[in-house]
Amino acid sequence: MRILAIETSCDETAVAVVEDGRKIISNIVATQIEEHKLYGGVVPEIASRRHCESIVAVVNEALEAAEMKLCEVDAIAVTYAPGLIGALLVGVNYAKGLALASGKTLIPVHHIKGHIAANYIAHEDLAPPYLCLAASGGHSHIMRVSDYTTFETIGRTLDDAAGEAFDKAARAMGFSYPGGVHIDKAAKNGDPKKYRLPRPKTQNPYDFSFSGLKTNVINLVHNANQKGEEIDIDSLAASFQYTVADILSSRFVQAAEDFGYKTAALAGGVAANSALRGMLTERCEKKGIKLYIPPVSLCGDNAAMIGSQAFFEYQAGNVADGSLNAVATMPL
Ligand code: KG4
Ligand code: ZN
Repeated sequence: MRILAIETSCDETAVAVVEDGRKIISNIVATQIEEHKLYGGVVPEIASRRHCESIVAVVNEALEAAEMKLCEVDAIAVTYAPGLIGALLVGVNYAKGLALASGKTLIPVHHIKGHIAANYIAHEDLAPPYLCLAASGGHSHIMRVSDYTTFETIGRTLDDAAGEAFDKAARAMGFSYPGGVHIDKAAKNGDPKKYRLPRPKTQNPYDFSFSGLKTNVINLVHNANQKGEEIDIDSLAASFQYTVADILSSRFVQAAEDFGYKTAALAGGVAANSALRGMLTERCEKKGIKLYIPPVSLCGDNAAMIGSQAFFEYQAGNVADGSLNAVATMPL
């Protein structure tokens, strides 16, 4: 089954053709980052307008790259939640139009379920049940994945998501949006032990809280600026990154042990972080847990992951009709 998938939940207009949930036929991502960078973050109205302008061209490009015509795809999938509502609406409306005009089945996909499915493309042997850590700009969730479409959240962030904390701390350090990748690069030249940063406690041992840590970094930079003191930005980046990776991986591995999982997966934009990838791999190995991580190219927003999850949603009978709407926030 070949699915044409559309993803417009944030600042990437992305379209892909995916076969049977596991094989990418084409995968096009048109990013708007350069424009949002000017404002230090995503401007929702600009995002919607850019999606509106590029969606037709990106769909055509994905079909051309797949050497297919629309009539040759079997279904249309679209991210319908969660995300920026105006941005989601562009993709949802366009997908509805395509499905109605072509008579194809319409498959709605939850964005975070899509992130997790990036692992099915990268790893043919991965199948539920497993424990998943999804860390992105809007989510930090520990989830029990009992089958391809059944998820149970056992831990989540109580305030900022990991990616959000990366971006805000990066901004204080003087990096441009989105800052996660800049922290990752700078950290390679820094000492992760130089700055001691707080590790907030939570009542539920699998929950996270990143806002205190983020504020600590922002205050550290502001105080130093006011006193005219030098900050070793590379080491601050390394210390921050080490702390976030340590919090995420220690709670995740604890959850895996407590619930008896021997299979685990990492997903979301923050899964691209080199310290998190390394630390989690090492800690899972020590505990005899097999860890699956998507390649960096599939960690950020893309439509291939949506096409993958769509295949499993279709198999479970989760399809939509012309009344499908976009939803800004939606639990898994
Ligand atoms: O999943 P994603 O592409 O979009 C959302 O669904 O939110 O995640 C974007 C987030 C941003 O906060 C970005 O800074 C972060 O992922 N990110 C990283 C890295 N690459 C992207 N954070 C840390 N290290 C990275 N290498
Ligand atoms: Zn995402």
